[in-house]
Amino acid sequence: MTTTEPLLGHVTNAADHHDLRGNMFPVSHEIGPVECEVIGELPAALRGSFVRNGPNQMFEPIGAHHIFDGDGMLHGVELAAGKATYRNRWIHSRGLDAEIALGRAVYPGLSELMNFPDEALVGDAGPIKNRANTHIIRHAGKMLALWEQGLPTEVTADLETVGEWDFAGRLQGAMTAHPKLDPRTGEMFFFSYNLFPPFLTYYVVDAGGALVHRVDLDLPAPIMMHDFVITEDHAVFMDSPVTFNMEGVATGESMVKWAPENGTRLGVIPRLGTAEDIRWFEVEPSHIQHFWNAWVEGNRIELSGCRFPEVDFGFKPPNADDDGGIETIGAPPARYWIDLDAGTAGWEPIDRDTIGEMCRVNDDRTGVRTDCLYMSAFTREGAIGGDFDSIVKYDTAKDTRSSWYAGDTGHVGENVFAPDPDGSAEDDGWIINSMHDDADGGQSSIVVLDARDIEAGPVAQVLIPQRMPFGFHANWFPAG
Ligand SMILES: [Fe+2]
Repeated sequence: MTTTEPLLGHVTNAADHHDLRGNMFPVSHEIGPVECEVIGELPAALRGSFVRNGPNQMFEPIGAHHIFDGDGMLHGVELAAGKATYRNRWIHSRGLDAEIALGRAVYPGLSELMNFPDEALVGDAGPIKNRANTHIIRHAGKMLALWEQGLPTEVTADLETVGEWDFAGRLQGAMTAHPKLDPRTGEMFFFSYNLFPPFLTYYVVDAGGALVHRVDLDLPAPIMMHDFVITEDHAVFMDSPVTFNMEGVATGESMVKWAPENGTRLGVIPRLGTAEDIRWFEVEPSHIQHFWNAWVEGNRIELSGCRFPEVDFGFKPPNADDDGGIETIGAPPARYWIDLDAGTAGWEPIDRDTIGEMCRVNDDRTGVRTDCLYMSAFTREGAIGGDFDSIVKYDTAKDTRSSWYAGDTGHVGENVFAPDPDGSAEDDGWIINSMHDDADGGQSSIVVLDARDIEAGPVAQVLIPQRMPFGFHANWFPAG
């Protein structure tokens, strides 16, 4: 375990990187645990920790810098007895520790995927820095910070880094940042994509944390698959046209390209199936970055998410003048269906008028029917990637949409559902979200909304005693 003096960031953005501007600029200090001021009243039943992961580059980047490139930092707010305590910690990847020893960045960003640092500089930290900057989960007693191109990184409840976790040697490759945990069986399901065959590998971990099943799956091309879904019986993958451009990288083109000529297919495999068991269903070219959920209904599988008809993640060639930024900011919600008897699949919009992302549900319903869908949405003119301004809830059983707007200077992150331990309905609980308000010099906070009444706005707001940069994914970890 690494426990050191608080680390210090050194980024000045002298190169004016697009993805380090505004509230994407990293914070330079680790602080806490420190008690926070609370506006309103925290629900007494809300006992546990809200933890959010995100990029927070420590050293001035070398070459192009994409928001996916930053060193992982965890921001945690522990709620107990109406009080809130905050701390933030960098994730000590081996690559970051090598850079700390050198006092500068030596790992290039993802747009230079095949450009590796000098082994003499980084030693056994390896050719790729495992940024661990995307998500944070807890399974079988381990908290794992996730990054889809590397192993999970174990951290403690106090957000100190333990180190990479390879499931006792059984995982040699990477692990998606979006594994699925079945709340009924305790199992965890995940995949990794690979630049070279096999392009997709699927894994099952039992409730005790042992990796017990592995299947290599064929895809026509290497793709950047970010998320998938499970039902009570299946895992479902989307083979979308977000394709690694390995030939192009050699000639200076962007690392990732949209290749609709590759088509889009939904792949269904029984949870413990083999490569021979997978069935593929063609759908119109499209991409889903984050799914809400999936379940079986009769002979059909239902799934939903924000549907991109086309994607540009803003990966620019290493020599581009403009180092990019995500150009496709969000997408309208849609549901897909797969008819297992007829061998067909299709989709239809849920809402044509709203653009959003970061789809989340009550995770207690993973794999079974869900009607309450939570999304972060863009309603302001000129929004850029990640600059969500609204929290939206759909109730598909009631066919309603409700929302809360964070104000003209407000920005929100991902909605995390914290169930009410005394509740029984799907939306009995609270939405917790990280917020940043640009007004009056800026104030970051954690807002708590009653999931049954989003439009009422926050019932409590925890003021964070330093700026909290925009990040990626978060989770709620109830106290044991
Ligand atoms: Fe994600």
